[in-house]
Amino acid sequence: MRYILSPSLLAADIGHLAEEVKTVEKAGAQYLHLDVMDGHFVPSLSFGPPAIASLRRQTSLIFDVHLMVEDADRYLTDFVKAGADVITVHAEAVTHLDRTLYAIRKLGLKAGVALNPATPLSVLDWVLPMADMVLLMTVNPGFGGQKYIDYCNEKIRALRALIRERGLQTDIEVDGGVTLGNVESVLDAGANVIVSGSAVFGGDTAANAAAFLDILRKREARP
Ligand code: DX5
Ligand code: ZN
Repeated sequence: MRYILSPSLLAADIGHLAEEVKTVEKAGAQYLHLDVMDGHFVPSLSFGPPAIASLRRQTSLIFDVHLMVEDADRYLTDFVKAGADVITVHAEAVTHLDRTLYAIRKLGLKAGVALNPATPLSVLDWVLPMADMVLLMTVNPGFGGQKYIDYCNEKIRALRALIRERGLQTDIEVDGGVTLGNVESVLDAGANVIVSGSAVFGGDTAANAAAFLDILRKREARP
């Protein structure tokens, strides 16, 4: 299995965004996690397509766009034009999940489905084969720097079992409260795409990213 680090830009120093991005890219991160918030689905506001388009010119990292917005369908082409590579929508915020996943793939991107901690895995029953990635929120979405919700490990484990049973290769991305202290247990549970905001960009960004990547590479090297 491939293991991926997706540092969340939300926690980066906004005055030095391009430098922060270059630092994680140089350290070896493969994705850049971009949290888009609309002030409706989640209480916060973050950034949108213009900011992403500007960063697109600074890096070749894979842009992993996490839409925490209502009516995501309205914005899909804007994010494609801005340079998104993966677009993840929330099952709770999209009325016609099947149609939205189909639309993302038709635009030539990878499609992801995000689930809040309280949302059961059963919403994936019929659409799992249409998703390249499932993002399990391990905090309630809206803010960086929150504490990992422990029952989520069991949910990751159940999702990995489901993916395996169905013979799929779906990535499991885990988002919220992941630190160097708990990432091993998140990986043990079956996640392979790790989002981390404050634990990467808080303090020495290069050293933090390198430490996460060291753990991920060791996993990948396991037989
Ligand atoms: C929360 C966002 C996360 C956030 C993670 O709503 O979806 O991506 O940036 O930040 P940390 O790693 O600080 O919990
Ligand atoms: Zn996110």
